[in-house]
Amino acid sequence: MAISSAWLFFFLCSLFLSHGVLELEASHHFDPNLQVSSTTPPEYQPYRTSYHFQPPKNWINGPMVYKGIYHLMYQYNPEGTAWGNIVWAHSTSTDLVNWTPHDPIIYPSQPSDINGCWSGSTTIMPSGTPVILYTGINPKQEQVQNLAMPKNLSDPYLTEWVKSPKNPVISPSPENHINASSFRDPSTAWLGSDGTWRVVIGSKTDRRGLAILYRSKDIVTWILSQHPLHSVEGNGMWECPDFFPVSIDSNRGVDTSTLGPKVKHVLKVSLDDTKYEYYTIGTYDLDKDIYIPNIGSVESDLGLRYDYGKFYASKTFFDSLKNRRILWGWLNESSIPDDDRKKGWAGVQAIPRTLWLDKSGKQLVQWPITEIEMLRGQQVNLPQQVLKGGLALEVSGVTAAQADVVISFKASDLEKAEVLDPSWTNPQVLCKQKSASVRGSLGPFGLLVLASKGLQEVTAVFYRIFKGQNKYVVLMCSDQSRSSLNDSTDKANYGAFLDVDPVHEELSLRSLIDHSIVESFGGGGKSVIAARVYPTLAIDGQAQLQVFNNGTENVQITSMSAWSMKKALIN
Ligand SMILES: *[C@@H]1O[C@H](CO)[C@@H](O)[C@H](O)[C@H]1NC(C)=O
Ligand SMILES: *[C@@H]1O[C@H](CO)[C@@H](O)[C@H](O)[C@H]1NC(C)=O
Ligand SMILES: *[C@@H]1O[C@H](CO)[C@@H](O)[C@H](O)[C@H]1NC(C)=O
Ligand SMILES: *[C@@H]1O[C@H](CO)[C@@H](O)[C@H](O)[C@H]1NC(C)=O
Ligand SMILES: *[C@@H]1O[C@H](CO)[C@@H](O)[C@H](O)[C@H]1NC(C)=O
Repeated sequence: MAISSAWLFFFLCSLFLSHGVLELEASHHFDPNLQVSSTTPPEYQPYRTSYHFQPPKNWINGPMVYKGIYHLMYQYNPEGTAWGNIVWAHSTSTDLVNWTPHDPIIYPSQPSDINGCWSGSTTIMPSGTPVILYTGINPKQEQVQNLAMPKNLSDPYLTEWVKSPKNPVISPSPENHINASSFRDPSTAWLGSDGTWRVVIGSKTDRRGLAILYRSKDIVTWILSQHPLHSVEGNGMWECPDFFPVSIDSNRGVDTSTLGPKVKHVLKVSLDDTKYEYYTIGTYDLDKDIYIPNIGSVESDLGLRYDYGKFYASKTFFDSLKNRRILWGWLNESSIPDDDRKKGWAGVQAIPRTLWLDKSGKQLVQWPITEIEMLRGQQVNLPQQVLKGGLALEVSGVTAAQADVVISFKASDLEKAEVLDPSWTNPQVLCKQKSASVRGSLGPFGLLVLASKGLQEVTAVFYRIFKGQNKYVVLMCSDQSRSSLNDSTDKANYGAFLDVDPVHEELSLRSLIDHSIVESFGGGGKSVIAARVYPTLAIDGQAQLQVFNNGTENVQITSMSAWSMKKALIN
């Protein structure tokens, strides 16, 4: 893999693909100017991450595990110039933390992918053989679906793949009314009890988002279903559809083909229009081959997101080594393209998250894979204590720019909570209005991360408790408004409501801080917010970590630990 000064961007699922050929139609952040860099990236890189996966250049595709080795396939342009060269690059790991690069495995070589090998997914067959289904761009600039298989199944690193001579195995056609410019990102396939494989592909018809369904007996010959697995009017293009079962009574993950009364199904779609990912929980009817979301489970701001900050083009896979389902997502930059070009890279992967159905059955829960804890070094704890309204405590002794922080709070005087106005239904808007510098009664309290001395720069991750109609409502915010003195970066605030009852439960918060990433897990992973920040003062050794309470009421810190994080070996 040539390390040139060229440069990279990277994404998970398809995404990036869509940015390729579709660049003209898409409002994607793809910018052809960013494909070429004449300058060498600077030696000093305050925003480069130390333990979040960053390929030397590119985007990402289908993760999987084979013979005890984790594989991450991602896409990049080896020339660093035009879109047409997009290939599937490849890294492997035994722990999902440290990664070894390999040569690219899929690159344009057939008519069905000559203009680009876009995103796709891996599927493990019952025999244990993995296959890749991916979107290729043909000479007519149409999006078609292709198949590839490993050349040597004895090679755990799967360094060579062979494309099917039957490619493309799925093509759009006018007879079936599929828009050839909006037909991409095949999901992992699942096998029904009838011995038939199914796969969904993202698409749209006018404003209706579609998960188009195909069936196959042999994974090579695919037949279009008469109806999509699911569709929603008004959504626009669905990218990277991900469809998988979750156990109803266990945190353990299940294979993508698992069916029956012990599972519910999840459909995640990446909305090209908003660049947000929504998921619904529902029931999959194999006989009718349709997915029906639970009542109230919708693909919109009234529904659920994996992440309420930056997170797109994600994909899950079933980790058969540890019986868990793992989610990977892509964290886009919030800096301007010109700055991305200067630093020579753009886009990182979130920490892989284990994901399962919450006990309530109403939402998913996500938690950083436990392996990441192997990077924890020096630990600092704070004793239980009351944190008075208006005070902050500095946590010293950890590398605050590269840390893992876990804290829990308990609020006692709940009756003093501010009343929630019934019109405050959008948590992001509420977090913008009520930033960390707007004092309330119960909150804001939480963490000040990547803070400069004197707090000219600070990213605040915090809670506020409100009195709702018949229960308390917890708001979780990530406030980037003061994260950098540099005004050219996107400093939008993010917010989510957190389904935790502060009367009976503590409010826990975990933040993974990695130079330009603040990835925060509220309530044990019930709401997650990932943010990108670019401090100019609070970098490396200058960054501070504090616990703060800017409400008028006291809160109790029931536990708090912070660790300096070591650097992972990444490519
Ligand atoms: C297949 O992979 C195994 C394990 O890496 C290797 O020993 C063997 O030589 C490979 N076979 C071929 C034909 O390359
Ligand atoms: C097909 O999708 C492309 C890309 O989004 C869009 O520009 C075009 O209008 C669509 N065509 C039809 C017939 O809907
Ligand atoms: C990438 O980040 C920019 C700046 O914050 C934002 O406008 C854009 O929507 C993001 N794109 C995606 C795919 O998340
Ligand atoms: C707390 O609120 C005060 C008053 O609005 C504000 O000046 C200060 O910056 C806030 N503290 C933090 C850490 O945001
Ligand atoms: C701050 O913003 C300017 C203007 O976009 C940019 O040129 C500069 O590199 C940024 N500084 C830092 C330290 O990121």
